[in-house]
Amino acid sequence: MTIEQDRRSPPCALVIFGASGDLTARKLLPALERLTAFGGLPPEVRLVGVARTAMTDDEFGEYCRRTVPADGNSRWKELAATARYVHGGYDDPATYQRLSEVLADSDRMYGTAGNRLYYFATPPRLFSPLAVNLGKAGLSKPSGAGFVRAVIEKPFGWDEESARELYADLVSAFEEEQIFRIDHYLAKETVQNLLALRFANSIFEPIWNRTWVDNVQITVAETLGVGDRGGFYETTGAMRDIVQNHVLQVLSLFLMEPPTSFHPEAIRDEKVKLLRAIRPLDDERDIAANAVRGQYTRGGTREDLMPGYREEAGVDPLSSTETFVALRLDIDNWRWTGVPVYVRTGKRLPARVTEVAIEFHQPPQLPLFPGGAAHLQRDALIVRVAPDEGLSLRFGAKVPGHAFTVEKASMDFSYESFVQQSPDAYERVLLDALIGDPTLFIRADEVGRSWRIVDPVLKYWDRAAQPIPLYQAATWGPPEATMLIERDGRSWRHSG
Ligand code: BG6
Repeated sequence: MTIEQDRRSPPCALVIFGASGDLTARKLLPALERLTAFGGLPPEVRLVGVARTAMTDDEFGEYCRRTVPADGNSRWKELAATARYVHGGYDDPATYQRLSEVLADSDRMYGTAGNRLYYFATPPRLFSPLAVNLGKAGLSKPSGAGFVRAVIEKPFGWDEESARELYADLVSAFEEEQIFRIDHYLAKETVQNLLALRFANSIFEPIWNRTWVDNVQITVAETLGVGDRGGFYETTGAMRDIVQNHVLQVLSLFLMEPPTSFHPEAIRDEKVKLLRAIRPLDDERDIAANAVRGQYTRGGTREDLMPGYREEAGVDPLSSTETFVALRLDIDNWRWTGVPVYVRTGKRLPARVTEVAIEFHQPPQLPLFPGGAAHLQRDALIVRVAPDEGLSLRFGAKVPGHAFTVEKASMDFSYESFVQQSPDAYERVLLDALIGDPTLFIRADEVGRSWRIVDPVLKYWDRAAQPIPLYQAATWGPPEATMLIERDGRSWRHSG
């Protein structure tokens, strides 16, 4: 794979805060290596690491090379060899003073042209102090024609109020246009393909509405438990970890109105309009009826016994953190009124599946088929985000033979049919941020609106006197989740 000319980064100093941390080692350095291999980063892109771990420039360069060896890639070796490192605390003005000198140096020696991309690869509690201190040090505004951008990754706050506080701190230093909020789901090839599917074809859009669609289902199911992230997950839970961001982002792209252009703001305007049209579950009765939480207990088989959530490292043995969420959401707009959107996500479910499915109305005269078709599930269009990325259209077909029996068949498209390898999500977001394309990043109003949807439910669960419903590991969540959809005469697409 080579990167097209217009997708190459301009000159820039790429500053990673948290350069000795986990995100940098697992995601950012490998993505940078790939980008150098494919020609996405010209020699005028320089790497600057900032962290509290003591290291010299050379040691940091060596750390980059050790983390991602890639011996055959000379541009990567050069990026690592010329990398600079600033050691210091994030609340110490001297750190920013040194950073400022390193950046000036980089402009002089490497032609980074005053452009800076700050990547906040730190724990989220440092986002505010970092932004405020960059502002105070005069490092948050571009000088001359250059650009300064800050990249942050969820969580963007912990609830509606803390998200507002974070926003206030960010915009005390940066303009909203300078802030690039990542949701790595938006960088997934199949999620982007939603745009192609809907707007590069004429066959889907006419049926993309309440006249044809019975319901929409979004599933983000994981087989893994919380592993060694118990401490983090205790303060997060499935609603904040997956629904507030990934699910609502995918949902809004999938169901928004056609944008007037492919300009990033036009797309983001439509996404936020859709989020605004989702009826918040404010009323306690509504929440009780339309939101289900759950937590996994020990389960699996004798050979493969999986611990319960409360037995995981770093988890309170009495924890009521949810590892599963199922919701019914309703959209109050012309296109989707009356079409429920069922959302389900959880850890330790029986399968790893991320998909978005549209189920169409049943045909009006099923009894026409004496061989029986009433048992048939609805026709469906399924976008598989993971695994085996692709698209399936499920429909009824006659089974060969004398009887007129109808069974479900499917037409499948797999991403594997493209020989070209998909870029990793972090390659994509890094390059987009360097180029300055905000399409796949989340705007402040989207963040606020997403909190508006999930916050009342979280607050209700916090107050709830009833214990959290439980489900055994390797099952599809608590029985309440099944009831949530079966009560409406429908069923989850994956349930057994
Ligand atoms: C992350 C969550 O944002 O997404 C994790 O913090 C989750 O808990 C992960 O496992 C899922 O991402 P993916 O790309 O593996 O579907």
